Amino acid sequence: MIKRTRTCGQLRLTDAGTSVALAGWVQSYRDHGNLVFIDLRDREGLTQLVFNPELLPEAHRCARSLRCEWVIAVMGDVQPRGEGLENPKLATGQIEISVQRIEVLNPSKTPPFALDAADKTNEELRLVNRYVDLRRPAMQHRLRTRHRVTMVVRQYFDEIGFWEIETPILAKSTPEGARDFLVPSRLSEGCFYALPQSPQLFKQILMVGGVEKYFQIVRCFRDEDPRADRQAEFTQIDVEMSFVDSDDVIGVHEKMVAAIWKAVLDVEVILPMRRMSYREAMDDYGIDRPDLRFDMKLKNVGDIVKHCSFKVFTSVLDQGGIVKGLCAKGGECYSRSDIEKTLTSFVADYGAKGLAWCKVREEEAAPTLVGGVAKFIDPAAAKQLLELFGAEPGDLLLFVADTQKTVNRSLAALRSKLGQDLKLCQAGQFEFVWVIDFPLLAWNEDEQRYDSLHHPFTAPAPEERDKLESDPGHIKSQAYDMILNGCEIGGGSIRIHESKIQAQVFRLLNISDAQAETQFGFFLKALDYGAPPHGGVAFGLDRIVMLLTGTDNIRDVIAFPKTQRGQCLMSNAPSQVDQKQLDELNLRLQRPSHASQA
Ligand code: AMO
Ligand code: AMP
Repeated sequence: MIKRTRTCGQLRLTDAGTSVALAGWVQSYRDHGNLVFIDLRDREGLTQLVFNPELLPEAHRCARSLRCEWVIAVMGDVQPRGEGLENPKLATGQIEISVQRIEVLNPSKTPPFALDAADKTNEELRLVNRYVDLRRPAMQHRLRTRHRVTMVVRQYFDEIGFWEIETPILAKSTPEGARDFLVPSRLSEGCFYALPQSPQLFKQILMVGGVEKYFQIVRCFRDEDPRADRQAEFTQIDVEMSFVDSDDVIGVHEKMVAAIWKAVLDVEVILPMRRMSYREAMDDYGIDRPDLRFDMKLKNVGDIVKHCSFKVFTSVLDQGGIVKGLCAKGGECYSRSDIEKTLTSFVADYGAKGLAWCKVREEEAAPTLVGGVAKFIDPAAAKQLLELFGAEPGDLLLFVADTQKTVNRSLAALRSKLGQDLKLCQAGQFEFVWVIDFPLLAWNEDEQRYDSLHHPFTAPAPEERDKLESDPGHIKSQAYDMILNGCEIGGGSIRIHESKIQAQVFRLLNISDAQAETQFGFFLKALDYGAPPHGGVAFGLDRIVMLLTGTDNIRDVIAFPKTQRGQCLMSNAPSQVDQKQLDELNLRLQRPSHASQA
C-alpha cells in the first residue's frame, strides 16, 4: 500500500523535484486523451495530478477509469506546472504531481450531488448523505473552526485555574423554559430521567462542593422547535465561579471571547465591551438583543403625534398604547407598494396592525415629510420628527402604534430586516454588547403569575432584595447577556445562594413549597450546607461558530444536526423500537405505531 507522506494542501514550487505520496478523494478528472488530469482532495486542499501515457501506460489507464469521490493514493514527483498553466487561486497552484504509481483504495458510487454545487443542492439531500457533504471545504472549515474554538476555550480556562468537570446527562429536570426530553428508566419502573436543558443545578452544587472554578463544554437538550439559530440538542460553554460579582464574571468571559476571536479570525476585540441596560435596549432597539452594527434607533414619537389628525395614532395613545418609529436612511428606494404590501405584511407577522410611513424630500430648500401619513402631520410636528430622527432627504420614516410589546416586537424585527435590505452591516463586523440590569421577573398575563426572565436561580440585585415582598415586578436582577450582532451568544447571572431567598423566589413563580421540594429539594438542601456566593454564565458554542464562520444556519456548524422536525435524516432518528424494548421499560404506546404492532 502506498503510504502518504504529504497532504494535498501542502506542496509548493520549492518542493519541485521531490518524490511524494498523497492520498484523498478524486475531486475532478479531465481526460485530454494524451494526458489525464486529476484534482486530488483531502481535508487540507487540492493537488493536481498528471498521468502521462508515454511514461506509465498502466497508471494512465487506471486514471482514465477514476470517477468523482473515488479514494486513491498516488506516488510521484512534484513538478512545476507549465508556463501559463499555474492556478493562482489554489495554494498548490504552482505545481502538479507527475504520477508514477496509483492505487485505488476504494471506488465510490456516483455522489448524490456535486460537491462544488452543494450550495445549490437542497439541504435535505445533503443531510441524508452527510458523509459526502462533510467532505466539502466549506463544511470542513466550519468543523475545524469549531475545534479551534473548543481548544482555545479549554486552554483559556485551564490557564486561569478552572477545572473541566462532567455533569450527568441522565439527570433530573432543570427548568430553562423548554420542554424536557425524557428517558424511561428500566431499573426504576415508571420513573424517568430528564436530559439536561443545562447543567445549571449541578454546576451550582459544584460550587457548594468547593470547586470554585468550573467549566464544561457540554451538550444540552431542549425539546422545542428548532429554528435557524436553535437546535434541540446543542452545546454550551458552561461556567460557574465562587466568590465573584457580575463584573468578575463579565471580565473573565469577555476575555474568553476576545481570545477566541483573536485565535480564529485574528480580530482584536476591544475590551472592556460595551454594556447597555435592558431598559435602554428595549427603548432604543425594541429588543433585549440589539444589533449594534447600525444605528437606526427606535424613537417614541407619542408626544409629537398626540395632537396630529391621524386617528390611528391618537386612538392608540388614548388607550394607553405607544407610537414608535424609525428612520431608514436612504429608504426612499422602497416604493409605496413595497411599503404597503411587503413591509406591512412583514410587521403584521409580529402582530402590528399596520405600518405608517412618510418619506423625506427636499422641498423649497428644506427637508419635508411627504406621502403616507405626512398629510396628517402639521409643519411644527413634522419639524420635530425630522429633528428627532436626524432625518434627511431620501430617508423613509416608519411607525407602528400599538401596545408597547407589539410596537417593540414588530419594529425590532423591521429594523433588522431593513438593516439587511439596505446592506447596513459589513462582513466581518462584530459589535459586542453586554445587556445588564434585567428585571428579575416578568408578569405572565395568561397565567396571572410571574415568570423568571432568566431562570429561577438568578439573584436579585442586592439593594433590591427588600422588594421581593413589596414590589417584585420592579426588582432588577444580577443577570447579563452577551449579544453579538443581534444574536444572544451567552447569558448568565449571579445566583441566589441562600435557600430562604430561593424559596421566596419559587413562591413568586407560583412554585409551591411541595413542588419545590419534589423538583429541587436536593438543591435547596445543598444551599443550606455552606453554599458560597457564586455566579456563572453559559455561551452557545454553535452560535459562536456560526458568527465566526458567517453562516446563519445552525445546522452548518453541527456535524450531524437535526431538521426542523427534530430528525436526523442520515440515521433516521427518532425511530420506532422493538416491543421487547418497550416491555423491558414497562411502556405501552397509547397509539401503537405500525412497526410495533407488527
Ligand atoms: P441560556 O438558556 O440563556 O442559559 O443558554 C445559554 C446560551 O446557550 C445558547 N442556546 C442555544 N443554542 C442553540 N440552540 C438552542 N436551543 C439554545 N438555547 C440556548 C445561547 C444562550 O445564550 N443555565 C443558563 C446559563 C447560566 O445562567 O449560567 C442557560 O442555559 O447562546
Ligand atoms: P481545462 O480547463 O479542462 O482545459 O483544464 C485546464 C487545466 O488543465 C489547468 O489546470 C491546467 O493546469 C491543466 N492542463 C491542461 N493542459 C495541460 C498541459 N498540456 N500541460 C499541463 N497542464 C495542462
